[in-house]
Amino acid sequence: MSTSDSASPAFRTLAELERAGAARVPSAVWDYIQGGAGEERTRAANREAFHRCALLPKLLAGVERIDPTTTFLGSSVAVPFFLAPTAYQGQVHADGEPGTFAAASEAGVLAVLSSLSSFSLEATAQASGESPRWFQLYLQPEFSRTVELVQRAERAGFRALVLTADVPLLGVRDRQAQEGFGIDAPVPLGNGPEFVSPARGPTREGTSYRLRAEAASDWGVLGKLRSVTRLPLVVKGVLRRDDARRAVDGGAQGIIVSNHGGRQLDGAPATLDVLPGIVEEVGGRAEVFLDGGVRRATDVLIALALGARGVGIGRPVLWALGADGGAGVARYLRLLTAELVNSMAQLGVSTPADLRPDLVRG
Ligand code: FNR
Ligand code: LAC
Repeated sequence: MSTSDSASPAFRTLAELERAGAARVPSAVWDYIQGGAGEERTRAANREAFHRCALLPKLLAGVERIDPTTTFLGSSVAVPFFLAPTAYQGQVHADGEPGTFAAASEAGVLAVLSSLSSFSLEATAQASGESPRWFQLYLQPEFSRTVELVQRAERAGFRALVLTADVPLLGVRDRQAQEGFGIDAPVPLGNGPEFVSPARGPTREGTSYRLRAEAASDWGVLGKLRSVTRLPLVVKGVLRRDDARRAVDGGAQGIIVSNHGGRQLDGAPATLDVLPGIVEEVGGRAEVFLDGGVRRATDVLIALALGARGVGIGRPVLWALGADGGAGVARYLRLLTAELVNSMAQLGVSTPADLRPDLVRG
């Protein structure tokens, strides 16, 4: 019985990290984190797409120094990966979002705060340092409420708005339904009870089913958002070339190729498979990011070689937070950064800008 709750579990590898998270996070929350939609085909496809790619290392490439820094929308970051927005971090560990953001900021890593945070966006901002942070936006049923969130985020020093567009309603999630997380009772929201989660299902009206009001938004919403904020907009959830074009035409400065970690439409493609076409479509008019199934530094390198500016990481951050709060996230970021530097050296690249498609055989 030597392992007390305060003892830091010494995870040294990704596998140990996942086990440490599983051991400490309550099972209903764990199933919510780990689960995907339907048969979890898309969740699995995200990983399989990385496994199908080989990296082709360059020999005697004259690499003397590894510099993993880059910029996202003009902000300097220490590494080309970032913390994807994930909801309800206070359910995962008492440190919650402030713990995660303090660790990210300390490491110079960009973190994106979910609209559905357990702690308020102001409290989270206060716990963060100077490193850039972005705010993920779920549209609210009334646009005036959306504007309130946007203005609060702007005041609290968030540097971009990430509009998550792939949740007209929550996906069909068997693992989550079995445990009832967020379904049997609403999970408290740090930004205030007046804001809602997109979790609510449709309402039956005769033979049809009405979705939440904001689910009926179209691309015009980008113009509406641009009229109320000067923060750059990033659209998250893009899987089609035509949607990428519409996002950029609507003024988005960034796009996140994402299927929400396989949690929304089961059967949607692996993000890595659609990345090259979207990069081509965008043609440098916006920064293209990707998330979904990024687990190893080698995955980061593959996605960057295929044209991503940066990649987001979802579940492993929650494993780390669950394992040891903010200290766990800090340790995880050190682990992944060390792995990245090692892998860049093996591949024969010195900076993220050196990552080109010829380094990957798909
Ligand atoms: C998410 N994701 C998410 N996305 C978003 O825009 N707003 C949110 O509130 C959440 N919440 C959330 C909770 C949990 C538990 C998970 C696992 C994911 C999706 C997230 O930003 C990202 O797209 C995926 O997690 C990326 O896939 P991986 O890295 O988890 O495989
Ligand atoms: C999720 C939502 C809340 O993926 O974004 O659980």
